[in-house]
Amino acid sequence: MKRRVLIVDDDAAILEVLEMRLAAMGFDVTATAEAHKAMEFATTRRFDVALLDLRMSPMDGIQLMEALHQRQPRLPVLIMTAHGTIETAVEAVQRGAFDYLTKPFVRDELRAKIRRALAARRWARDRERLLTVGETLASSGVMERILDAVAQAAVETTEAERSVVFQLTAGRLVPMASAGTPPPSWPALEAAASQAIDKGAPTMITGPEGRVIVAAPLVVQRGPVGALVIETPGRVEPTEDDLELLALFSSQAAIAIRNTHELERLRSGALAALGRMATQVAHELKNPLAGLRLYARHLEQRLDRNSDTESADLARKITSSIDHLAAIVSEITAFGRPPELHRAPTALAPLIDECITLAQARCPSEQVEIARTYDAAAPDAMLDARELRKAFLNLILNALEALGGQGCLTVTTQCAADRKSITIALDDDGPGMNEETLSRLFDLFFTTKPEGTGLGMAIARSVVDLHGGELTVQSALGQGTRVRIRLPLGGPPAGAGA
Ligand SMILES: Nc1ncnc2c1ncn2[C@@H]1O[C@H](COP(=O)(O)OP(=O)(O)OP(=O)(O)O)[C@@H](O)[C@H]1O
Ligand SMILES: [Mg+2]
Repeated sequence: MKRRVLIVDDDAAILEVLEMRLAAMGFDVTATAEAHKAMEFATTRRFDVALLDLRMSPMDGIQLMEALHQRQPRLPVLIMTAHGTIETAVEAVQRGAFDYLTKPFVRDELRAKIRRALAARRWARDRERLLTVGETLASSGVMERILDAVAQAAVETTEAERSVVFQLTAGRLVPMASAGTPPPSWPALEAAASQAIDKGAPTMITGPEGRVIVAAPLVVQRGPVGALVIETPGRVEPTEDDLELLALFSSQAAIAIRNTHELERLRSGALAALGRMATQVAHELKNPLAGLRLYARHLEQRLDRNSDTESADLARKITSSIDHLAAIVSEITAFGRPPELHRAPTALAPLIDECITLAQARCPSEQVEIARTYDAAAPDAMLDARELRKAFLNLILNALEALGGQGCLTVTTQCAADRKSITIALDDDGPGMNEETLSRLFDLFFTTKPEGTGLGMAIARSVVDLHGGELTVQSALGQGTRVRIRLPLGGPPAGAGA
């Protein structure tokens, strides 16, 4: 879209020359010799920049500027003046003009000042709106979404080419959200982010091909937790104001991160306590349950011997309920004490096949199509098959349960190009999860199923964690669920357990 320029000068010759030059520079030009006409134009059109002659009557350039600012407060105005009246020009700037132009015009100066005025207008735009947007965002949960919104808003309001929010995790900068076009150079963005974090204040650097990179640190009480970075083409010159604007956004992102950390801390503290309690309770239940089972079996046999089939059936029901309880108890106990891994060369594909068969046996799924694509190049890896079987089984069961007997489950394995890790993806086209479920998915005992124990996901994650891998879940209501497990293939990483 062409930028709109308003020119007002009572000297017809100058007006004509300016109009031609600016049109040649690609602007959409509105030119007039009369102040009242300019005011009329301003009621129906928005201008991006105005060039006003200082000496005009009955209304001079400064008065016209003030009248125009009533209509369009952020319109950048360049006051045009002859050499002799430089003091008045300075006064014009003090009263709200963006800059002044001296006549006769020097071509490059004209171009440069208009460009600067346009860039400045862009950057200063809608600051109040940003503030409100930011505050709303910071109070609305789910960190990833807030960071996405911050990145998006940063791009939209600054018209930057791209924006990335980095989070500092274990001394490394991890991109958490981005908007705009993909960056041609990540290292340049990371360098700017690091500088801003070190300095504790917004920083500007010149990146490859003269692009300008502005970074603002995300600071919470403990110190910096990341940085918000934007990148613009070289011709846009951010000012001190722009840095301030970015600092505003970054403070919103920082609040989002802080809130999430605090919630996680609280949650993991509570979970750990809950976990300990559950293990103790399970432990206390284990022996009496074993006793109960013995008595029930004994009763069952005795009633069988006396041919009291009806009572014997009742006794069998008691036994099987006790078995169910005992299974839950042993799962809880196992979870409370994560096992040592026993790694041995393991082929993943047959292991996954086995889990699919086991899961199908447990969950009726005749009408469920299971598509498998295994990476033939995947080598055997040093993994604990017994533990992984638990993880896969739980995840496949979850998928089949979600499908409710109908739909498609896709299982894919893919070895990384460097063969250092393998990714297993389980995609089901079931109902997906709402946000609440998604956010509590790994909580112990969180379940939405009448018969569920809410341990499956927690177990799966702990097994994957023990292997030094990563388990992530993407899901939305009506869009199915994707579970991804990335397992390192090189055995345990240095410092990891097992
Ligand atoms: N593939 C999936 N699609 C939809 N919802 C899922 C999926 N996987 C998990 N969930 C949701 O997450 C919840 C927790 O899962 P988790 O496996 O931890 O427990 P559960 O399946 O309810 O019980 P169990 O301990 O028997 O596995 C489930 O109750 C379900 O609401
Ligand atoms: Mg489950």
